[in-house]
Amino acid sequence: MRGFEAIQAGHTPSELDELYKDILIHVTGFFRDAEAYGALREQVFPNLFRDRKPEDGPVRVWIPGCSTGEEVYSICIILLEYIWEQASNMPISSAAAKEIQVFATDISEASLDRARSGLYSEGAVSGVSAERLKRFFVRRDGGYQIIKSIREMCIFAKQNLAKDPPFSSLDLISCRNLLIYLGPVLQQRVIPAMHYGLKPTGYLMLGGSESLGAFSDHFTLIDKKHKIYQKKKTAARLVTYFTGFDYTQRKSEEPRSSNLPETVLTVEKEIERLLVNRYIPASVVVNEQLEIVQFHGRTGAFLEPAPGHPTFSLSKMAREGLLVDLRSALSKAKKDNSTVRKEGVVVTSNGSRRAVDLEVVPLRVQGSSERFFLVVFLDPAQKPTVPSRKRPPGRNERGRQSPVVRDNQRLTREVTQLKEQFQSLIEEHETTLEEFKTANEEVLSANEELQSTNEELETAKEELHSSNEELTTLNEELQNRPIRVNVKRKISPVGSMPTPFLVSAFSPTCFERAHSIRESVVFLCSLETFFSSP
Ligand SMILES: C[S@@+](CC[C@H](N)C(=O)[O-])C[C@H]1O[C@@H](n2cnc3c(N)ncnc32)[C@H](O)[C@@H]1O
Repeated sequence: MRGFEAIQAGHTPSELDELYKDILIHVTGFFRDAEAYGALREQVFPNLFRDRKPEDGPVRVWIPGCSTGEEVYSICIILLEYIWEQASNMPISSAAAKEIQVFATDISEASLDRARSGLYSEGAVSGVSAERLKRFFVRRDGGYQIIKSIREMCIFAKQNLAKDPPFSSLDLISCRNLLIYLGPVLQQRVIPAMHYGLKPTGYLMLGGSESLGAFSDHFTLIDKKHKIYQKKKTAARLVTYFTGFDYTQRKSEEPRSSNLPETVLTVEKEIERLLVNRYIPASVVVNEQLEIVQFHGRTGAFLEPAPGHPTFSLSKMAREGLLVDLRSALSKAKKDNSTVRKEGVVVTSNGSRRAVDLEVVPLRVQGSSERFFLVVFLDPAQKPTVPSRKRPPGRNERGRQSPVVRDNQRLTREVTQLKEQFQSLIEEHETTLEEFKTANEEVLSANEELQSTNEELETAKEELHSSNEELTTLNEELQNRPIRVNVKRKISPVGSMPTPFLVSAFSPTCFERAHSIRESVVFLCSLETFFSSP
């Protein structure tokens, strides 16, 4: 088990993939522990949905170690059933899309592929009631497939719980039957990571034989039998070990300015955390490949899960209207290594248009060569305004801008932005052209080298051909000549050759014995001299 821990904690080389498949147990099932799901429904869901306002965003659920997806879809099903009970006339698609966001991760890509497909054999769904089968599955390929609207609620991604950063602002984490496969060392990494990922009052459900060990002080036990815990509101942040970018971790490492007692600091931190969670502008951290590694605040108005294969690609998740400005701001920030701001970008979300200011801040993480960028979506309405006594031109007596002036300003801004975009497109185009030129030159020189190699080969081939012809002629001559019996008498001209070799040289395999065609030719020439001598 210690070797297993070492593999999981370190950077896994590809040749270990096969080993992983063998040693990781993927046993799972639909409604594997029906009672535990019942407890979730009774003791957790009402708290998640009670008094929930639209601005609170969707309920965020994370299922690490999701294996082939049965647990994920079971949770989706009971969540949807709960929502329907509460709002019985809500259609499934709107209930699913608006209320719940499910992140499901596993270390095994093969399991994730199966989970994404949502296809299960008859045997796999034997524990699912006929009513649920009818409602949440469709018949496909001799088995059953989870309906599309549920599959679309779930984002499946590869993640090593022992070292990759967790999701954040989660209402519920269901981490069942995974901790038992990790030793105590890994458990000490994994539990703080999940604690970090939960909202201040988020819930955690473990498998029946799992527990929080030394971390139980940081959670309130809600249901002992079914291993349901709630994060303590005042719990201090635990030390986390994930190796991805985590700037809250760096913040907490800043030296403390006072000698206040730990409890006061904890409460202060919690208040700070609450405020940050509530008022932090919607933002994401992306890597150089523009893949989102962290979400902060409410990003739903700017990003949405892309249809098809689940992805965290910023380009794919950006809502209508954002992409061009996002890409140009990111490429400028990358090139100049400085903060780039784009104002008044118009984004369309659920049919309505709104303006947003984008800010891209390059980040460097200590000890990592990878670059990250913080993308912040700012509400232009929240910009600090300077009070003025005089009525500025274009404003009415209430200080508001007239619609014409507003439109004018917006259009001017859009034109400026388009110009900038155009310019950056031209630059990108020129760089690409340069790259093409260099690549083309390389191809040309490689071609020339190939040509000269080819010519050399041709010459060698011709030489070989003529040697072969000579050899054939000599061979024919040799065959037509009567062989004299008293070979031994004639040995003296080629005295250096041992008799058995000379005799065997007349056998049909004589040429096989020569080391090369040239040697054969030389050898045959000496024979020729020998036979033609008086
Ligand atoms: C027994 S299955 C649990 C399936 C599901 N949670 C359930 O209870 O039905 C354990 C899963 O954990 C995954 N796993 C093991 N180590 C992991 C790690 N370090 N990070 C993420 N997943 C891991 C395995 O690939 C496997 O699919």
